[in-house]
Amino acid sequence: MKKQVAVLPGDGIGQEVMNGALEVLRAIEDQYGHQFKVVQADIGGVAIDHHGTPLPKETLEACKRSDAALLGAVGGPKWNEVPVELRPEKGLLGIRKELGLFGNLRPVKTFEALVDASPLKPNVVEGVDFIIVRELTGGLYFGEPRERRGKNKEVAVDTLQYEKKEIENVVRKAFEIASGRRKKLTSVDKANVLESSRMWREVVDQMAPEYPDVEVEHLLVDAAAMKLIYQPKHFDVIVTENMFGDILSDEASMLTGSLGMLPSASLREDDFGLYEPVHGSAPDIAGKGQANPLGMILSVAMMLRHSFGMEEEADSVEAAVEAVLSSGARTGDLSGQEIGPVLKTKEMTDLVVEHLKPNHAISGILAAYL
Ligand code: IPM
Ligand code: MG
Repeated sequence: MKKQVAVLPGDGIGQEVMNGALEVLRAIEDQYGHQFKVVQADIGGVAIDHHGTPLPKETLEACKRSDAALLGAVGGPKWNEVPVELRPEKGLLGIRKELGLFGNLRPVKTFEALVDASPLKPNVVEGVDFIIVRELTGGLYFGEPRERRGKNKEVAVDTLQYEKKEIENVVRKAFEIASGRRKKLTSVDKANVLESSRMWREVVDQMAPEYPDVEVEHLLVDAAAMKLIYQPKHFDVIVTENMFGDILSDEASMLTGSLGMLPSASLREDDFGLYEPVHGSAPDIAGKGQANPLGMILSVAMMLRHSFGMEEEADSVEAAVEAVLSSGARTGDLSGQEIGPVLKTKEMTDLVVEHLKPNHAISGILAAYL
């Protein structure tokens, strides 16, 4: 199969983890005879430096011409002082909005080998496997007005607004995903306080009869935050609005041991998707080659599955990550549990790529003896 991928490394560790993603793509090409044409473009702070804007027209065009896009991370202290409309994060929010990517899938799955890396007890995190479906193009992030008011600008306003259609789009996606999994949908809101949440509940209840085999429950966001910690195995699919999803997904990442492990997909109705790790640009470790590339590499797996329909290829990437972790390989963020030395980004990537090769046990381990 021939596919074109827009590659937007962005800032900080974005470029470093993207190198890992590209190596994995090459390995999949070799292994399965596909051709992935890569088109690089700038986003975030690096785009501000090169083009004076965090989301250049060329970048959007590159995405529109491609079958999918991979994104590293945006932001960093270098751009803290730029005007708010020009902040690197605006590039990320802008690309999601401009491409209409309303459904953000954030799977949270603990790897057997990492149960000890979580700050929570192994019996709580073992076997956790759920997916957060976060609405991505509406709510507090985009509602108008958003401004400072008053003589001395002593009032600040943000607006949590949703149109019914926007909620329907993401809730339908969540129902579809739940139908293909353990058939349990938890809709998270704050309906005891917020009008938008009451409409959210209405939409979920109206759609539920179309999916009779999916069990639906409503949970208030504060209760959901608690339940994620004391009973994470309760969840299968969580659907929630933009800001709640942002917060809950960072919280949930700790179940897996590290934010560096989590991939994400931002989807719309057609096959196009934008794939990025949930973690940010990590300025504290940027440039040191220490970042965990697995969240980015698992995002590649999501791209293969959701945008290209390459199930087997996606499975093989996930299996390679699992095998590498089982062998004891750890980057610094997963530290404390290392069985061997703490690996750098490139070393971890090389191990995954090695596992993607046919007869990898022979090429990787026995080769030294042959
Ligand atoms: C995320 C990030 C972004 C968000 C930031 C960088 C704007 O935290 O993708 O979760 O809030 O959506
Ligand atoms: Mg976030």
